Amino acid sequence: MDFSHLLEPALTASVDLLAFVVFGEPAKDPIWKLVDGATKGGLAAAAKGESFEGKSGQTLTFWSAGATAAKRVLVIGAGAKGDLQLAQLRDVGAVTAQIAGKVGAETLALLLPAVGANKEAAAVQMLVEGALLGTYKFSRYLTGNDAKKPPTLKTFGFLTDAKGAKPKAAQAKALRAAIDRGVVVAAAVARARDLVNEPAAFMTPAQLAIEAESIAKKHKGTVSITVLGPKKCDELGMGMFLAVGKGSDQEPRLIHMTYKPGKKAKKKLALIGKGITFDSGGYSLKPSNAMEDMKVDMSGAAAVISAMDAIAQLGSEYEVHVIAACCENLVSGRAYKLGDVLASMDGTTVEINNTDAEGRLTLGDAITYARTKVEPDEMFDFATLTGACMVALGPYTAGVMSDHENLVRAWMGAAERSGEDMWRLPLNPRLRDQLKSSVADMRNTGDRFGGAITAGLFLKTFARDTPWVHVDIAGPASLTSGRPHQPRGGTGFAVASIIEYAAKR
Ligand code: BES
Ligand code: MN
Ligand code: ZN
Repeated sequence: MDFSHLLEPALTASVDLLAFVVFGEPAKDPIWKLVDGATKGGLAAAAKGESFEGKSGQTLTFWSAGATAAKRVLVIGAGAKGDLQLAQLRDVGAVTAQIAGKVGAETLALLLPAVGANKEAAAVQMLVEGALLGTYKFSRYLTGNDAKKPPTLKTFGFLTDAKGAKPKAAQAKALRAAIDRGVVVAAAVARARDLVNEPAAFMTPAQLAIEAESIAKKHKGTVSITVLGPKKCDELGMGMFLAVGKGSDQEPRLIHMTYKPGKKAKKKLALIGKGITFDSGGYSLKPSNAMEDMKVDMSGAAAVISAMDAIAQLGSEYEVHVIAACCENLVSGRAYKLGDVLASMDGTTVEINNTDAEGRLTLGDAITYARTKVEPDEMFDFATLTGACMVALGPYTAGVMSDHENLVRAWMGAAERSGEDMWRLPLNPRLRDQLKSSVADMRNTGDRFGGAITAGLFLKTFARDTPWVHVDIAGPASLTSGRPHQPRGGTGFAVASIIEYAAKR
């Protein structure tokens, strides 16, 4: 799918589908009036017949019978204007591209909604991301012919003025940049979705390393990669990480990618991802229904690895380190057990009272690795860490935990601009008591209440004083029921925010 800036007037744009967004009462919208006039009241009549009121989520497709150069007109309801969030435009872009596909349109022109000149570029980026992510399909294992068909929509055009007024050069340039950025972000999100959607039988720790290596190879001059196997991790003393992976025949991999900017870096970032390629729970075995989707437990790793591709493409003023701790949490004669005492890379000893709280163990050592080997100015970790976070915030919102006010504010700003739902949870130190052990420095699980926070407090032990933000993405990393720009399955959550935070504008 190509994106372009079209300079024709809406009524004479020579495309298969003319699309526009209406707010509030459709009949008061200037573009509505224009099209309704051209069709001699046909649009209003169609709306009446189809009960189209311009509510958010409503759409109206209308055969224009030659009244417009476009064969069909698509009207997308967006609710009252005051309610429009820029992130909503991802769904608008998705719905537009999906309907274009359904009616077999090869070309379309979408009139940009009047969001204000300063928000136009952001709106275009959202629309582009939505169009690409709304037509995302994980079809590798589908054998029917339909699944393999390439999408019919070839050109997605934007109109900046209904009458075809010539845009200012700066406006056109900003629009082009927004399109390009949207394409890069969407590709990274789609790649993360692919990594998550692949079955665990294929997407093993070693395979994740291969995927990361192919990204590093693509950006040879700026991105380097080191992959540590079990021997190297053992030499480093990563006792927690290795214990989790012991029960599997698949060897663990610690993936470390580094992006270096051409000029001297402003600061060093470490982006750490949880990469449990399958989480059975270990001897604290999950029930079958809870295990069914546990190939998604590497979504944090998928997010940071995929974001690196976009960061390298767009460039960054920072030195960016991606660290993904990848292994499988299985049951076998070699698996770690309850009551085991593990020695972590930083020396802290940990008593295991639940083998299903494995993510914090792998991440604890990954955080120590980042903190001591990279010495970053800022660390972030992304992890499908706790069901408790979903209990607290629901399935669509990530839990963000940090004691570093400035850093977490900057992060929340990036998440907000990217339109990804995130919400802060407090790292209340009183809950730390739940992690007390009588045989080791601490144990790996607390009580039921505050489960997302005790997991965060566990990780904080290893982050020490390095500015650090923990993002629990257990809910939004995958969906059982989708929405237009996020079909069910892996979502690629956090990729857009990471790029927004780390990549150059
Ligand atoms: N990977 C799971 C968390 C999870 C749950 C991710 C649902 C995605 C969807 C994690 O390793 C886990 O099992 N957490 C336990 C922690 C508990 C044992 C303290 C949980 O949430 O039940
Ligand atoms: Mn688990
Ligand atoms: Zn897990």
